[in-house]
Amino acid sequence: MSTVAASLKKIEPDRSNLIKALQAVQEEEGYISNEAIAEVARHFTVSVVEVEGVVSFYAQFKRVKPGKFKISVCDGTACHIKGASLVIGWISDELGIKGGETDNEGLFSLEIVACLGCCSLAPVISINGKVYGNLDRKGLLKILKDHRKGGAA
Ligand code: FES
Repeated sequence: MSTVAASLKKIEPDRSNLIKALQAVQEEEGYISNEAIAEVARHFTVSVVEVEGVVSFYAQFKRVKPGKFKISVCDGTACHIKGASLVIGWISDELGIKGGETDNEGLFSLEIVACLGCCSLAPVISINGKVYGNLDRKGLLKILKDHRKGGAA
């Protein structure tokens, strides 16, 4: 049984549970794949188009498979003032991805988030939940390089 099917097994196939089911799938898989959409549609006996509509309507659902390292760049007020846009630009230049994208190797994905709760360390990013603060370009590139090395091993 696929992990999607296992997630759906616990959920009553009532239309009012559709969002709950998609959340469970995303929790398990990290994103909503085309296969998952088809499986959810089958489970609820609704069309694939209807499920796709729900997924695209809610920003919480991700359609792109996350990379091994999920980079969250804080663009909350404190980080914005301290240069979050520069940090986003440095990451985009280095990895060739924008917010909501995953690089070709499937190693890094990038998302822009609101406050990460460490404003005194602005500008801040987190990678798979670990926070890095007071970033400058050199420090950021070293962090990415270290992850790339670790990820490639
Ligand atoms: S605004 Fe970035 S951590 Fe709070």
